[in-house]
Amino acid sequence: MNNKYTLGMIGLGTMGRNLLLNMADNGFAVTGYDKDARMLQKLEEDGKAHNLKGFAVLEDFIQSLELPRRVMLLVPAGQIVDNVIKELIPLLDKGDMIIDSGNSHFTDTSRRASELSEQGIHFFGMGISGGEEGARFGPSMMPGGDKTAYNAVKPILEAVSAKVNGDPCVTYIGPGASGHFVKMVHNGIEYAMMQILAETYYLLKNGMGYDNEQIYNTFKKWNEGRLQCFLLEVTRDIFKVKDEKSGGYLIDVIKDEAKSKGTGKWTSQVSMDLQLPIPTINESVSCRDLSKFKSLRVALAAALPHAAEKIDNPAEFEVQLEQALYFSMITCYAQGLHLLTQASEEFKYELNLQEISQIWRGGCIIRAELLEDIYQAYKKQPDLAHLYADASLQTKLNEIIPGTRKVVGHAIQNGFAIPALASALTYYDSLRTANSALNLTQAQRDFFGAHTFERTDEAGIFHADWNSNNL
Ligand code: 6PG
Repeated sequence: MNNKYTLGMIGLGTMGRNLLLNMADNGFAVTGYDKDARMLQKLEEDGKAHNLKGFAVLEDFIQSLELPRRVMLLVPAGQIVDNVIKELIPLLDKGDMIIDSGNSHFTDTSRRASELSEQGIHFFGMGISGGEEGARFGPSMMPGGDKTAYNAVKPILEAVSAKVNGDPCVTYIGPGASGHFVKMVHNGIEYAMMQILAETYYLLKNGMGYDNEQIYNTFKKWNEGRLQCFLLEVTRDIFKVKDEKSGGYLIDVIKDEAKSKGTGKWTSQVSMDLQLPIPTINESVSCRDLSKFKSLRVALAAALPHAAEKIDNPAEFEVQLEQALYFSMITCYAQGLHLLTQASEEFKYELNLQEISQIWRGGCIIRAELLEDIYQAYKKQPDLAHLYADASLQTKLNEIIPGTRKVVGHAIQNGFAIPALASALTYYDSLRTANSALNLTQAQRDFFGAHTFERTDEAGIFHADWNSNNL
């Protein structure tokens, strides 16, 4: 074959197929491979306009690619990625590239990168966000690792990515597994935003007694303002979908047990390892896990009831709820970005938070109006220690905190479970507490374990004889 393809995709499920169609739309000569004949047929059907055809034989697929080969994987994370790489190695030449675009764990990406570099194959991990729609018409992409490989696909990635003010929502994230790390944290933020939206819905429904139409209208109104974001748009639209079977709204017949594929949990696990707290993200992971104890929850709800008081001033509460949601949204990003700051240092990822917030403004699941402010904050101050330290965000925080306190206070007093909203507020309070209670923790540690402590009035490490120093 003379006319060879510029890039080949392995895995023609919805994401792989859509991304390939997007590349073809942008004029690139691309092809795909899948073991499943139905996937090849679907590619052919959807790609009629571009005469897009795939391969059923891996050797033929590899031979159809121009040198050095660019092979992209969009297969489920985990063992499958290793299996595919194993099959590929004997067919590839030195200098060829493998781009893993699934949601792989960053430690797997590090391992694969070093194994493949020993064989002379360039490897990089790239997180893609935006779901099916994003892949088809413009995702946000987070590539990290081998820069030679990145440069070889840069024009394709920039062309197919979402654009905000003309800027592509893709950038070289950094060395090593930084691309997959940043995508993982993106997902941690996604989990937390979904949870604060769910808790807000719960308060609108059970605290304020709103029906689905009122909830739709409230979310619609909020989405026209500073809260505008993709996840609120999706949430809003859920409340107008009817269900044929029950004749009511679909949301009302969906079981309240949430599943997950693990990226939120990984974010929490890493945060513990790095000792960089992200409590609102952790709560959102825990909430999904707690939701699975349905029968226990039903039994305890009957055994331990708690009557809720009516809200005195619903109009005022609605305004405060918007403030609580906005505050918590700032906090979700703040925690994720803080974790990135720490990880960058720990893993030498050289992360540029200005660029990361820039590419999150479009295409991805956590895209939001607020990201423009966040991007501006990092643009102004690239070494910003924490989002709360930005002066313009501080002005906003001062405005929305009193309303947030009212909402969280009311919910707690009335027994509504709002762990993510509450944790965002206590996280904020912990960070703005100059003199905390942790001097006591140090005293306790020294008392029973001689773990020593530092003093406020003198440098050095001290140990006290707690039993004999009684006044
Ligand atoms: C995205 C999403 C996506 C993720 C799903 C599923 O950015 O497009 O983050 O990558 O796989 O949202 O996540 P859970 O199944 O864990 O909820």
